[in-house]
Amino acid sequence: MSILVTGGAGYIGSHTCVELLNAGYEVVVVDNLSNSKLESLSRVKEITGKDITYYKVDILDRDGLETVFVENSIDAVIHLAGLKAVGESVQIPLHYYHNNITGTVILCEVMNKYGVKKLVFSSSATVYGIPKSVPISEDFPLGPINPYGRTKSMIEEILRDLYHSDNKWSISVLRYFNPIGAHQSGRIGEDPNGIPNNLIPYITQVAVGKLKELSVFGNDYPTRDGSGIRDYIHVVDLAKGHLKALQRILTNTGVDSYNLGTGIGYSVLEMIDAFEKASKKKVFYKVVERRPGDIASCYADPQKAKEELDWVAEKGIEEMCRDAWRWQENNPTGYEVKVLVK
Ligand code: NAD
Ligand code: WQD
Repeated sequence: MSILVTGGAGYIGSHTCVELLNAGYEVVVVDNLSNSKLESLSRVKEITGKDITYYKVDILDRDGLETVFVENSIDAVIHLAGLKAVGESVQIPLHYYHNNITGTVILCEVMNKYGVKKLVFSSSATVYGIPKSVPISEDFPLGPINPYGRTKSMIEEILRDLYHSDNKWSISVLRYFNPIGAHQSGRIGEDPNGIPNNLIPYITQVAVGKLKELSVFGNDYPTRDGSGIRDYIHVVDLAKGHLKALQRILTNTGVDSYNLGTGIGYSVLEMIDAFEKASKKKVFYKVVERRPGDIASCYADPQKAKEELDWVAEKGIEEMCRDAWRWQENNPTGYEVKVLVK
């Protein structure tokens, strides 16, 4: 069975490819490499000992996508391709709406044309915006508070409309909480461009000596230690969630959304502590103003995924930090191999 993974060279995509290959699926990847390196897929092949069919195609390129469907017998699509930086989405919203929404519409049109109506879509907990309470369950109202989040909630609406227009579609919408960590081999992981926006890549770069100190964005939130609480989930658990969702869409029709999180929240200060223990490195930090748009606390009620997908996150915070550190330590320049000139 052949699965098309859009955005497969990226952070979550590469880990999802490993799980798919290990489970015996054939994998076809489409990625324009706008936020990734092809080296990630070489390493996926190295980890699994299996091959991947790769196309350097933009999902906005209808003809390019059609070639992929003509040349391969695709059974289902896991659609991760998208732009994901919240701050950037505020600066260049039209680019985000075009890339994420138009890209998804074109992908669905091409899928429709080739009779492929099974789709797993990467959404985000960001669609909930400022939740009325925690934990957050799937029936909470959606209210994203930035353009990136709105691309995700609008795509969710489009996918629901698509199913209602044609009940042969089978769609799983996965709302990820905060993916962190890396494959235990230390060969694939998160490789952000420039200075990281997200907490864990920032922490790992402070620990490895690339960045001086972490800024903790606020210690006056109504949380147990004043810093923000999030539901961090190991990227390998997340990748496994895609396989469970895939199994469901292969055997059912419908459109359903699922929270993929652990159900447990950790504060920024608790994450610093856990990371220091796992890496045996000091993480220097200072407390600064709150970051605009941040919320105090966000964690999942993952019950629906447990009941309907038979999926639960298994890896704890120690393993997440240990694996994030192994990746950072072994690959201080990410996928880019720096050649030393004497
Ligand atoms: P990533 O940037 O590492 O991966 C996304 C991949 O999509 C990249 O390889 C990029 O080159 C590719 N891509 C982007 N636009 C494309 C286009 N038009 N055509 C072809 N390829 C394109 O990000 P990730 O963290 O792996 O995220 C994967 C998906 O999960 C994204 O849709 C993201 O919005 C979503 N998500 C991520 C997080 C997170 O914290 N990492 C949380 C929730 C949801
Ligand atoms: C986590 C906590 C910060 C950086 C983002 C997106 C979301 C989703 C996941 C894609 C917060 C604090 C952070 C730093 C800090 N992505 N922090 N210093 O904001 O929960 O979610 O990534 O869908 O859409 O918004 O993740 O890792 O940026 O922040 O103190 O340098 O760490 O305030 O409490 P966030 P994050």
